[in-house]
Amino acid sequence: MNILGLHFGHDAAVCVLHNGEIASYVLRERYNRVKHALGLSDFDIDAALEAASLTIQDIDRIAITSTQDVELMTDRIEGFEIQFAPHPEDNLTSVVLNAMQRSNVTVEDIQRYGVRNAFSKNKPEFYAGVLRAVFPEGAALDWQSARSVGWIDNYIEVERWTKPRGLEELAAERAYLEEQLRFGFHLPVTVEWRGRKVPGCFVAHHMAHAASVFYRSTFDRAAIMTHDGFATGNGYHGGLFAFGDGTRLWPVSPHNLVLGAMYDNTAGLVGVGDAGKLMGLAPYGEPRFFERAFIGNTHDIEARFQTDPVSAWLAHCRERAQQAGYDMAPLGDRAHATEPVNRDIAASTQLLFEETYLAAIRTLARMLTNDNIQTGNLCLSGGTALNCPSNSRIWREGPFDNVFIEPTCDDGGLAIGAALHIYHNLLEQPRRIETTSPSPYLGITYGESAVEAALETASGIVWSQPDDPAAAAAADLVGDKIIAWFEGRSEAGPRALGHRSILADVRNADNWRRVNHVKGRELWRPFAPIVLAEKAADWFDGCPMPSPYMLFTATVRSTDLPAITHVDGSSRIQTVDASCGGIRHVLEAFDRETGVPVLMNTSFNGPGEPIVETPAHAVAFLQDSDIDVVYIEGRRAVRS
Ligand SMILES: [Fe+2]
Repeated sequence: MNILGLHFGHDAAVCVLHNGEIASYVLRERYNRVKHALGLSDFDIDAALEAASLTIQDIDRIAITSTQDVELMTDRIEGFEIQFAPHPEDNLTSVVLNAMQRSNVTVEDIQRYGVRNAFSKNKPEFYAGVLRAVFPEGAALDWQSARSVGWIDNYIEVERWTKPRGLEELAAERAYLEEQLRFGFHLPVTVEWRGRKVPGCFVAHHMAHAASVFYRSTFDRAAIMTHDGFATGNGYHGGLFAFGDGTRLWPVSPHNLVLGAMYDNTAGLVGVGDAGKLMGLAPYGEPRFFERAFIGNTHDIEARFQTDPVSAWLAHCRERAQQAGYDMAPLGDRAHATEPVNRDIAASTQLLFEETYLAAIRTLARMLTNDNIQTGNLCLSGGTALNCPSNSRIWREGPFDNVFIEPTCDDGGLAIGAALHIYHNLLEQPRRIETTSPSPYLGITYGESAVEAALETASGIVWSQPDDPAAAAAADLVGDKIIAWFEGRSEAGPRALGHRSILADVRNADNWRRVNHVKGRELWRPFAPIVLAEKAADWFDGCPMPSPYMLFTATVRSTDLPAITHVDGSSRIQTVDASCGGIRHVLEAFDRETGVPVLMNTSFNGPGEPIVETPAHAVAFLQDSDIDVVYIEGRRAVRS
């Protein structure tokens, strides 16, 4: 069975699932070169189909998902139509469809939401700015005629979920694993494209997150929590508690956390702009404005402060800083991000994030225990699961023994999750549960001819083919060159994991500054290491091992790694084993030369750019940046 997964929201992506395995994956931003790009085109779908050696004629089902309030844009796919009726040959059970038929909800009701509203409504400027950035084509569109469909989640209502419940009230409830919930988060439709009508199915955003992480985990059973950046605490649109058992996946309850919005808006307040940078800034500061009264979900915080949680938290930070006599002039000034007012607000928000996440996870554990459901496993997904220090504290201090987070826990994983949801949860196709973490290398393979064409046609570069590229790369690194390493299928997800990476010697403290310069980043921003998996425990502790996706923060045990040791002694590591490919040989060669099995690793991209995808992108980076050497599929290229 072939399922085509389409995610139309920001971090738009396409995947092909062949008998439950990911055959191909295309993240739109890697090709149109707009970070977090929204919407899909023929190109994206064709690229994924071609990589899976399939055409639309081979596709049995289409899974569709999007980002809440930034719904489906179909204008860029020629002839792509959705009919809001199940395919005649489809017999999927759908609670939503039944409810719509009972209550006479029409297609027009669905279509009254959507991206045109997201752009035209009075959105906060920060949010509107994010939307414009991920969808620059929007400026030229006539929004009234734009084809979009809405937020199917609006048609699922569980009465107990609509009551305002704080975390303590949730913790007193049962989990209620009900079949009507398991079959309540999708809507069967019919998709027509290129003359073929395919059974289609919308899958609710957070069910796709939950499916993406659970079905790719090594767990037979697991508690699951999803939570997005910018999440406002508005019901299940901000995230879910869920539970997975074998092929079955139940939503347990919305948690109503507002943490994603509090964190992202604080990134705006201190001027760094995004959550990843706030996470990097926090270790510079002290959590002087942390206050336990802000731990909770949106109902907890609203009840205590009588205003929305984001406004309450931002006002609290400002007021406390003013009262304490901080110099307020640098607040929100990107050029002065590390000044005390900004760094201490960042540290306070990071601590709040960690404490709230822990409280939420304990709430989920209690809801399951109240139903006598036992599991030592936890899966996390949604953009907030990219917060490495929080993930490590959940692993160290939380109620679950094992924590799994997928590399595509951001919205880029939703195409995969929606397809897996249909395959396993709705069609109850069996899982093949692996004993090792799944490969993150899901991108397209570029042949020798594409590599050589990119090198041959580029001006101003020379290249050679070393007998042992890994040894040559290690020698360059020992010689303190900054290099890029491009091999095989690109990594899915926002973190570079050794197939599209910039590497440098960890022993030279100045490489922190040098690599930030090459990448056009603020000089204070930290870097992460890759480490040979079997030697990782000699150099790092405090996080699960192996840790293959750079999603947990470790404590650095050595003083020999200054380029990747953050100011608080932490580092977010990636452990590298044989499944990572040639990058492991680079690490081994560097270890042989230096006795250090660790390298600085950062994503292969320039400022504000998506990660390099094609050989041509890699060559262009060499031409346009100060990087010393670029290795592309074993070829060593430098500027002439
Ligand atoms: Fe999400």
